[in-house]
Amino acid sequence: MSEPAVIFDNISKSYPMYHHFTGGIKNFLFHLPKALKSLRGSRYEALRDISFEVRKGEALGIIGKNGAGKSTTLGLIAGVLKPTKGSIVVRGRTLPLLELGGGFHPELTGRENIMLNGVLLGLLRAEVRKKMDEIIEFSGISEFMDQPIRTYSSGMLARLGFSVIAHLDPEILLIDEILAVGDLEFQQKCIEKMMDFKRNDVTIVFVSHSMGAVEMLCDRVVWIDDNAIRMSGNTKEVVKEFEKAERNAELLRYVKGNL
Ligand SMILES: Nc1ncnc2c1ncn2[C@@H]1O[C@H](COP(=O)(O)OP(=O)(O)OP(=O)(O)O)[C@@H](O)[C@H]1O
Ligand SMILES: [Mg+2]
Repeated sequence: MSEPAVIFDNISKSYPMYHHFTGGIKNFLFHLPKALKSLRGSRYEALRDISFEVRKGEALGIIGKNGAGKSTTLGLIAGVLKPTKGSIVVRGRTLPLLELGGGFHPELTGRENIMLNGVLLGLLRAEVRKKMDEIIEFSGISEFMDQPIRTYSSGMLARLGFSVIAHLDPEILLIDEILAVGDLEFQQKCIEKMMDFKRNDVTIVFVSHSMGAVEMLCDRVVWIDDNAIRMSGNTKEVVKEFEKAERNAELLRYVKGNL
């Protein structure tokens, strides 16, 4: 078996909670010491004791409901977030496509953003210039390359973002929900490109709500539920259990709604 590219060892991540003064400002002032303590103390635990490994060349899927902690996990692998507890090892150059348009500058054109991102991700200008045409061609939106990207639709941003990272020879590719906003043609293009990466031994961590895409691409899946790992292992088995739980939850909502 190949060596691990990513190791998560008992990771927890909490965010400070934002408060509303539900009792009103007067009540807040009357109980100042207690109120201040609660402000300081309370944090939201977005991930709780998460442990998993991704082996080199493996494609790992991360699935779960909205707010489960998937993007937080990718952010931790990318190093843009720091864990509150536990240790993370990442071996290899990560290229994250984390959130839509993240890392892009709205006033710069598509072409300028490609250069900016290439350089930010560690390439020399000349190297980006050499790949520029290929990136634009792959994005399929060449006619908009000289427009500022604040004019782009979310699908166009996804196209640009994916094209950039797809041409920067990543060792570890982190993809968060790219398929959700792309049209069918682009979704297929993304999947094909990711399959290519897989054949070339690139490690992939793929977050998606599309179980079809997860089944096509991923060797293994981690299912995060309520901020902890509920199940992990064989793709087919985990997806099956996840879908069963989703159906049950839907049924429950339906029954409750009709009582
Ligand atoms: N910067 C932040 N500050 C406070 N809370 C945050 C922050 N980022 C995320 N959270 C909270 O952490 C939890 C996990 O968020 P995360 O974005 O990882 O979920 P997700 O699984 O990616 O969901 P989705 O499927 O909707 O993208 C959520 O409850 C969210 O509100
Ligand atoms: Mg997310």
